Amino acid sequence: MLTMFLPFVVILGYVHLVWGYVSYQPEQVHLAFGGNSYEIVVTWSTTNQSNESLVEYGIGGLIKRATGKSTLFVSSENGTRSQYIHRVSLPQLTSGSKYVYHCGSDQGWSDMFWFITSPDESTWSPQLAIFGDLGNENAKSLPHLQEEVQRGMYDAILHVGDFAYDMDSESGRVGDEFMKQIQPIAAYVPYMTCPGNHEEAYNFSNYRARFSMPGSSEGLWYSFDMGPVHFISVSTEVYYFLEYGLKLVTKQYEWLEKDLKEATKPENRDVRPWIVMFGHRPMYCSNTGDDDCTHYGTYTRVGLPFVHWFGLEKLLNDYGVDLVIWAHEHSYERLWPLFNYEVRNGSYEEPYHNPGAPVHIISGSAGCKEDISPFIQELPYWSAFRSTDYGYMRMRIFNKTHLYVEQISVDKEGEVIDHVWIVKNNHTSYA
Ligand SMILES: *[C@@H]1O[C@H](CO)[C@@H](O)[C@H](O)[C@H]1NC(C)=O
Ligand SMILES: *[C@@H]1O[C@H](CO)[C@@H](O)[C@H](O)[C@H]1NC(C)=O
Ligand SMILES: *[C@@H]1O[C@H](CO)[C@@H](O)[C@H](O)[C@H]1NC(C)=O
Ligand SMILES: *[C@@H]1O[C@H](CO)[C@@H](O)[C@H](O)[C@H]1NC(C)=O
Ligand SMILES: *[C@@H]1O[C@H](CO)[C@@H](O)[C@H](O)[C@H]1NC(C)=O
Ligand SMILES: *[C@@H]1O[C@H](CO)[C@@H](O)[C@H](O)[C@H]1NC(C)=O
Ligand SMILES: *[C@@H]1O[C@H](CO)[C@@H](O)[C@H](O)[C@H]1NC(C)=O
Ligand SMILES: [Fe+2]
Repeated sequence: MLTMFLPFVVILGYVHLVWGYVSYQPEQVHLAFGGNSYEIVVTWSTTNQSNESLVEYGIGGLIKRATGKSTLFVSSENGTRSQYIHRVSLPQLTSGSKYVYHCGSDQGWSDMFWFITSPDESTWSPQLAIFGDLGNENAKSLPHLQEEVQRGMYDAILHVGDFAYDMDSESGRVGDEFMKQIQPIAAYVPYMTCPGNHEEAYNFSNYRARFSMPGSSEGLWYSFDMGPVHFISVSTEVYYFLEYGLKLVTKQYEWLEKDLKEATKPENRDVRPWIVMFGHRPMYCSNTGDDDCTHYGTYTRVGLPFVHWFGLEKLLNDYGVDLVIWAHEHSYERLWPLFNYEVRNGSYEEPYHNPGAPVHIISGSAGCKEDISPFIQELPYWSAFRSTDYGYMRMRIFNKTHLYVEQISVDKEGEVIDHVWIVKNNHTSYA
């Protein structure tokens, strides 16, 4: 009986494929900070182009309506698969409030989500989850992060490059699936990003199209503030994929120096003393393999091959950047305060009390299909702690003097395997 109908089923299936379907249903909803922490940008995708891009939102109910724009994104190399990506900004939000929202249009709405705005900036002690290299497969940290975000533990997420493995795979379907996986996180707290090497395809087009970071560089480099911290996101990839333009290296470098100059003006640094930078490929690491950080002259640290222009480590030192967070290596490693392979511990008993150089941490073990990155046997003199457990980092900036980070092991069911306080009463240049 069944076999008799099989040809019809096959024909119906075929007809369905050819005719396609219409969907104005929002999916892949995610948030980012806009120009400041009282502005949130909502981003989502639809298969078909809805006639509007709307967010209905408010404190306690959907009282307000904000309008934005959509752009067509063709995610596949052969140009057959497309989606519309919608962006709507919610400016001038009230501090310390729980907002509810949904997004879409009168042709289709998302579920309801919520987010909480920052309290008074001057007394805020923001807490973040930070990690890199989280994929669609083997996403070990994902359920932990989903759980903790839903319980209200974090004010923002930093994903330090390498998404989905890879967002462009299967004509962008892997990217779509990944964006759905992170929706229970990213629809509730700002999900701030930087590009990694896995985003390289088609000139980082999936990265640039899918995220909505502040600034005007399509999310390749930008900065934002949270209470006592100035965060800077950079693309280490501009140094490695020079085929997309040397001008990206120079543009980023000029932008970064300008941003650091502004952030370190006394009137700004007094209010916001912590400067935390993040980028994908580390300047130092003690992993095995031929990867760039195991070689002396890494591009981001001392500059481009041979000419050594536009190296970033000198800027970190000159402008007194407090903490630099990297990923790429699928492991966790915390270094002693370090500049140009010279350990410059801080005062008193504690190496991190008024350290004499930036502190580097690598946290790229969130979980992806490329497994974990092993370490060389010997612990270098500049490395303080390392682990190959899957996991992610938490950071809390208590106030102008105290910053705390800890690393969570997913293998050990959420145990804190490393923690450190960075204590500073004077944030100035180390030069
Ligand atoms: C909706 O999108 C699908 C898939 O891209 C496409 O095949 C179909 O023609 C679109 N329909 C309309 C009405 O735009
Ligand atoms: C969009 O379409 C919906 C449903 O057809 C309609 O109610 C609404 O007025 C349209 N909006 C605009 C701006 O055309
Ligand atoms: C487009 O490329 C994807 C990925 O390579 C492939 O799976 C798909 O069959 C291609 N589609 C067409 C129409 O060529
Ligand atoms: C790659 O994208 C960047 C950012 O949009 C752009 O400035 C650059 O010119 C592009 N490079 C190439 C080779 O298309
Ligand atoms: C830095 O501090 C650590 C921990 O106390 C110590 O093991 C290391 O030798 C110190 N390095 C220098 C250069 O003082
Ligand atoms: C900053 O936070 C730390 C840790 O909670 C606390 O010990 C310290 O007293 C605080 N400093 C000020 C000035 O509030
Ligand atoms: C902070 O450090 C700078 C440079 O080392 C020094 O000139 C200044 O006196 C220090 N300020 C305080 C309050 O310790
Ligand atoms: Fe990477």
